[in-house]
Order: sequence, then structure tokens, then C-alpha cells
Amino acid sequence: MAAMLAVEYVGSMSIHIFSNPADLAAAAATRIADAISATDRTFSLGLAGGGTPAATYRELAQADVDWSRVVMWLGDERWVSHDHEESNTRMARSTLVDHVLGTFLAPDTAFGDPHDAAAHYGETLMTAFHDGRPDIVLLGMGDDGHTASLFPDNDALTAEGVYLATWVESKQTWRLTASMPLLWSAREIIFLVQGESKAGVLAEIIDAGRPYPSQQVAARADNVHWMVDAAAAAQLRSVPR
Ligand code: 6PG
Repeated sequence: MAAMLAVEYVGSMSIHIFSNPADLAAAAATRIADAISATDRTFSLGLAGGGTPAATYRELAQADVDWSRVVMWLGDERWVSHDHEESNTRMARSTLVDHVLGTFLAPDTAFGDPHDAAAHYGETLMTAFHDGRPDIVLLGMGDDGHTASLFPDNDALTAEGVYLATWVESKQTWRLTASMPLLWSAREIIFLVQGESKAGVLAEIIDAGRPYPSQQVAARADNVHWMVDAAAAAQLRSVPR
């Protein structure tokens, strides 16, 4: 059982702090597997991109889960082919999807236009969610406070709709991302955050509520759990340790 250093409640959010990334990944995989096993209906699991979740996905791929009821999808995707090294589809497949018998809905980045791809993917997702709401959505957080592909000072932050195409100036690239309203509709959100590079922004969000995109998601979602390692939690003032 992963060793959790502390859990703290700040508003409707809970912050779970783990000694190291391996304990974080084990605990996150257990939490997800338990949630899937707690129901007998179709269960949707939104997957975060980037690097942090890979260890959780590898653990989850080993869990005793009835994957036949699970629909996996991506909270965001880079506008690259699915075999590109930057592809979240590729990362999710190599660490989890190709190792389990679940359903995986990936955005089609071979579309000519990112807006069409985003709209099509959003329509597909809405048919897959139980009562139109995602069950668990996993999210990462960048050191600029972005989450999914919702970046600071970007029009996507206030866009309606389910899934969006957004030009990310800082990366000079298109991204596809779940919208704020879609993320807010989730039954549970789990942020997976690790590393000292995230410590400053995490403290600004948890201790001061600074409205980074990650904070904007957490502020209006129903049931938010931050699962973080000690390095990312190092500057938190509101969590006694
Ligand atoms: C992406 C992610 C993005 C990621 C953060 C953190 O496509 O890049 O969805 O929001 O979660 O950038 O990335 P790391 O976990 O690699 O630090």
C-alpha cells in the first residue's frame, strides 16, 4: 500500500501527498481501479497527457479491473500523428491502452482542420459518457499552471462547447483540449502532479487560489483530488506535515 504522508481538505478539494512518484502512481492506480470496480455500468476514464501519468498508467494496466466496461479518452492531444513522439495517444497506448481490453476513443488528428477534429471528437465523447458526464478525469499541471491544453491567457479558457481546438502561442502549435465546461461536469477530477518545478504554482493555487487554468478547473468541479509527491508539495503552507 502506498505510503501517504498527509491528506488535507481545502474547500471541496483534497490534497494527497506521497513520499515519491512511485507511491503516487500506485495510489492513483488503486483509486481509479477501485472506482471502476465500485460500479457495474460503463465507466469513462479521461486520460491526462504529458509525462507524469505514465507511471500511473503502467500500474493501472496491471490492476484487476473489468476493462470491458471502461471507455478511455484523452483530456487533450497534440496536433500530431498518433505515432509521433509528442502524441498523447501514443503515450496512452504504450503505457495502458494496448495492455488492457477497454475501449479507447482518440481524437483523429489526421483531419485536415483541428476545429473539425475537435468538434467531431466532442460529439463522439458525449455519446460515451454515462448521463453525459465523464466519470473520472485525470489531469496534469504544467509549471505555468496549465492543465489539459488550457493555457493561461488563452481564449479556450472561456470557450463553450465540449472539445476545442486551440492555438498555443507559447508552443507555436495547435492543441485539442477538453473545454472548461466539460471538465467541470466530471464526477471526479484527479490531478497528478509531481516534481519541484510544480511546487511554486501548486502552492499559489492551493494556498492562495491564484486563478491559473488548473485552479479554474478545480474551483468549479465537484470532487477534486490532488495527488502529489513531496517535491511538488514542498511549498504548501496549508498542509501540516
Ligand atoms: C499535455 C498535457 C499537459 C500536461 C502538463 C504536465 O498534453 O502536455 O495534457 O496538460 O499534463 O503539461 O506535463 P508533465 O506531466 O509532463 O509535467
